[in-house]
Amino acid sequence: MKENKLEVGFIGAGAYVSGNHLPNAQRNPALRIRAICDLSAETLERHRAAYQPDYVTTDYRDVLRDERVDFVVIGTQHDVRLPLIRAAAEAGKPIWVEKPMSTTNAESRQILDIVRRTGVLFQVGFNRRFAPGIVDLKRVLGRFPRLQTLYLRAIEERKLWPDWPFTPQHGGTLGSEACHFMDLATFLAGAEPVRLRARGDAMYALAVSIDFANGTVAEFFCGVHGSAGYPKEYIEAFGGECTAVLRSFVELNVCGVDGETDRSYPLEFDPQPEAFRDLPAFEALYRKNRHWRDHIPPEDFAARHYYRSQPQVNKGRYEALDDFARAVRERRAATGCDATDGARATAMVLAAEKSIRSGGPVEFSLEAALRET
Ligand SMILES: NC(=O)c1ccc[n+]([C@@H]2O[C@H](COP(=O)([O-])OP(=O)(O)OC[C@H]3O[C@@H](n4cnc5c(N)ncnc54)[C@H](O)[C@@H]3O)[C@@H](O)[C@H]2O)c1
Repeated sequence: MKENKLEVGFIGAGAYVSGNHLPNAQRNPALRIRAICDLSAETLERHRAAYQPDYVTTDYRDVLRDERVDFVVIGTQHDVRLPLIRAAAEAGKPIWVEKPMSTTNAESRQILDIVRRTGVLFQVGFNRRFAPGIVDLKRVLGRFPRLQTLYLRAIEERKLWPDWPFTPQHGGTLGSEACHFMDLATFLAGAEPVRLRARGDAMYALAVSIDFANGTVAEFFCGVHGSAGYPKEYIEAFGGECTAVLRSFVELNVCGVDGETDRSYPLEFDPQPEAFRDLPAFEALYRKNRHWRDHIPPEDFAARHYYRSQPQVNKGRYEALDDFARAVRERRAATGCDATDGARATAMVLAAEKSIRSGGPVEFSLEAALRET
């Protein structure tokens, strides 16, 4: 802690952390960037110039030994998790880890044990729960007589992605992207999943059906074979005589719930703030997004990194990290996804993989999945 600001140590500072957590920590008045660790010297030099941390390093142990680091953000690729989490927990550092928390149920079980044994504060980066549109949607769903059916969609464009998520150890679309919607569907349904059925291609394009213990059924489409010109995400929820639709985090439409009106949410980053001001939020986003897709700067395309040019909807990235930091400061439990939520999302991904292989539904229980290993 310095000047009453929590000091953060970043371990793994590639595309996502560069585009989100570092700028978000820098603009958060309660935080200070103490240390940045990455394996790439070029990345470290760029971050040293942009964020002026007290030091940069290629050895994460420097960050964990540092008494001034109040919490760590682990933003490495998916297959570099367990040793970092173990070392950070044993050093007593509260841990924010990017999604997915783990890639196997055995890894989840070990992480759960480490977190229980050390008692460190621990949160997984399923940020969507903190998006203003999701916070409102969740509240509105609480006013439905019950949530009966839920539809989610997230389609991107393969050639705009880096290659590493499409390797077997990172699980493709299912492992790196569908895990968000496993968690989000569970959060919105407010119940444990009991059955999954997945079809399609785990790497690039799939459909997943989930039955929840309270009777809610969810269906989602996820993949990278679409155009990034169209806004990526969409959620529809139905129950009783009520409907709620969240259009790419910028517009919420609610019908059949007394007193609830449509709402819109500002972009987190708007490359054309003066354009399309007369249009409804989703229409304006569509036009801005399409314009971005048609004019991607060559350097962004080469880096597969678009946070400086693409319209950014508010998916709760700032809010989620801020909430975790408040929990660290107040020494209270974090309100975001804990290790059990992280383990559940991983187990659901693995169950979906199993379902694609078998061609049939898979009965789901987190306890059973964790016992299996
Ligand atoms: N929450 C979200 O919406 C969201 C979106 C995109 C990516 N992510 C997640 O963020 C994470 C990183 O993804 P990315 O696209 O930034 O990947 P990336 O490859 O660009 O960055 C990962 C970085 O980790 C570094 N690294 C690896 N091992 C390390 C070690 N032992 N010590 C220090 N640094 C190490 C690498 O040098 C690299 O720079 C992944 O878990 C990904 O799923 C989350």
